[in-house]
Amino acid sequence: MIPCQRYLFDIPEDITYFNCAYMSPLLKNVVSAGQEGVARKAQPWRITPPDFFATPERARALFAKLINATADNIAIVPSCSYGTAAAAQNLPVSKGQKLLVLQDQFPSNVYPWRELAKEWEAEVETIYRGGNNGWTTRILDAITSETAIAALPHCHWTDGSLIDLEAVSQRCHENGTALVLDLTQSIGALPLDVQSIQPDFAVAAGYKWMMGPYTLGFLYVAPQHHHGRPLEHNWIARQGSEDFARLVDYKMEFQPGARRFDMGEGANFSALPMAVAALEQLLEWGVDNIQATLTDMTDRITERAAPFGLSALAPGDRAGHFLGLGFPGEVPTSLPERLAQKNVFVSVRGQSMRVTPHLYNNDVDIERLISVLETAL
Ligand SMILES: Cc1ncc(COP(=O)(O)O)c(C=O)c1O
Repeated sequence: MIPCQRYLFDIPEDITYFNCAYMSPLLKNVVSAGQEGVARKAQPWRITPPDFFATPERARALFAKLINATADNIAIVPSCSYGTAAAAQNLPVSKGQKLLVLQDQFPSNVYPWRELAKEWEAEVETIYRGGNNGWTTRILDAITSETAIAALPHCHWTDGSLIDLEAVSQRCHENGTALVLDLTQSIGALPLDVQSIQPDFAVAAGYKWMMGPYTLGFLYVAPQHHHGRPLEHNWIARQGSEDFARLVDYKMEFQPGARRFDMGEGANFSALPMAVAALEQLLEWGVDNIQATLTDMTDRITERAAPFGLSALAPGDRAGHFLGLGFPGEVPTSLPERLAQKNVFVSVRGQSMRVTPHLYNNDVDIERLISVLETAL
């Protein structure tokens, strides 16, 4: 268990922030790294050509460590949608084949597949929520040799419901189905090993559980796609771009590995050092330890909320860092207002409340949340 790390963040005592799935706060040293980056851009003589490569390589290596990959397999991207678009552009689909998504999946991992299906006269197949056997059984039942792509998360963004990616990956490999993962709501808090899952592409926006800045994420590209076609053709992704004096000796060859998929201006001088500082801290805490600590927290919240009739998925069925509390009926209309009055930040959606803590949360936060529920229910 990791003790409370609130002192590393700039979170006033009277704020209860249980909304990491929306956007994480920044660590103080991540803010400093960003400020230093802005200060360097104000004095550009402090930015040298090697800087265009050193920080991206460091960021790539750190993200790779998080998922047990190597830097060669990682591209720097601005968003999840950029990564799914790159995947869609590089996966073969034939007329009549199926592209699998989950019901209510995040749009960045749905729209590209709808477009691809339109282009190839393929079909997007949606897996619906069902009874007790959860997503995994339904996904496994749906994957056949007709399934070209399974585009999935590790846990569902609305309630944290878990998918057994090892089982899904095995079924994908048996059927020649490409596996594309959106890890935005899991990487940084839920362990994942690409060596055992072997996805084709896996992308994550970095501003939630990776605790980084907005507009910066990472894309894992499996080695068999390293010769693919990037979405854009930026100069820095081409071989020899380190030599600024000879950039107009145009090259057809790319930088090695997944680097050809890097976004233009990926060497962002403020955002990238922030991502590096955040990834260093996550690795120091350890993702297993983060998951264990957050699981303990969400279990305690579930237990305290049960007397009010609020229910959650069983511990093994949801990711430990993610809690969707279901109300027996409609969410009381006064609840969002009462939460706001007490500076309690969660997401209220439909008939449930999404509570997503991190290491800055403490027992006072839990008590504050419970006391609002007590008065509102
Ligand atoms: C599951 C999931 N994927 C992706 C995103 C962000 O997508 P993008 O980076 O394309 O804006 C979110 C944001 O809430 C999300 O919850």
